[in-house]
Amino acid sequence: MTDSYGDNPPLSYNKYLRVADLIGLQDCLSDPKHHDELLFITIHQAYELWFKQILHEIDAAIVMMNDDRLAAAARTMRRVVEIEKLLVTQIHILETMTPINFLGFRDQLNPASGFQSMQFREIEFASGLKHEQLLHEFRADELAHTRLRKRFMEASLSDAFFAALRKRGLDAPLDEERAKGYDQRTRAVLELLTHFEERYEEFQLAEALLEHDEYFSLWRSHHVKMVERMVGTKRGTGGSEGVGYLRTTLDKKFFPELWEARTYLDTKHGASGCPFAKG
Ligand code: HEM
Repeated sequence: MTDSYGDNPPLSYNKYLRVADLIGLQDCLSDPKHHDELLFITIHQAYELWFKQILHEIDAAIVMMNDDRLAAAARTMRRVVEIEKLLVTQIHILETMTPINFLGFRDQLNPASGFQSMQFREIEFASGLKHEQLLHEFRADELAHTRLRKRFMEASLSDAFFAALRKRGLDAPLDEERAKGYDQRTRAVLELLTHFEERYEEFQLAEALLEHDEYFSLWRSHHVKMVERMVGTKRGTGGSEGVGYLRTTLDKKFFPELWEARTYLDTKHGASGCPFAKG
């Protein structure tokens, strides 16, 4: 080595963040290169980086809940929600691409699709929305299948949340035995909603989880609108019906009990205590 630092040059911004590698990862398929393909790739890669961060935070929140650190878990989930707000608005950047410009390189993407995003499914599974059929969809992608199978078996945010409520004395059984429209878990949530001052930590965590669910769902709505704006009701590159399929996903929920409890809430549950709390 001839420079004055010998074998140990000081750390630099570009080196630490591996900027050269990062900006070398956008391989456009269009030939000649279509101007908007770089935006299309950059947006998707940015999503995948944020998905990685969300999974990192969800894993941490589950450990915190297992350790009965509910305030810390709520704070972690608030970070997830802030990232998700960004993910929703990020769609607007893609909407600056005109439909005709998208068609200029869309055919090259076949049969790739966001439907195959492993980390998107991991977030769903880790949050509590697990569908065996979706796991099966990844059988030809070894890395994705291994990661998803692990998430499928592991306790989710939803499992960890209700286990944490059990530790704090609420009756919130693991199995969802739904009886007469709402179950014990929904009743436990009702208890938090009616006694949110006494149960402040649990309530804050429940609200942060609900917001995670809400913003993920807002992303789904915004994505389907953007897709319709871009390609109308054409079939998707992944082979689905396109917008028709995406609309079927809009009601998906990570924590149905958190939503359902609102239906059964009324002011009588307040000062006199929650009549459902004891089951
Ligand atoms: C021009 C832009 C886009 C179009 C036209 C588009 C279109 C579609 C279509 C038609 C589907 C249904 C599956 C299929 O048959 O392909 C889909 C699914 C999906 N897309 Fe996009 N998409 C776009 C941008 C994005 C972006 C930026 C993301 C960010 C990661 C994304 C993530 C997803 C995900 C995760 C699914 C699966 C949703 C589910 O199954 O619940 N898409 N997309």
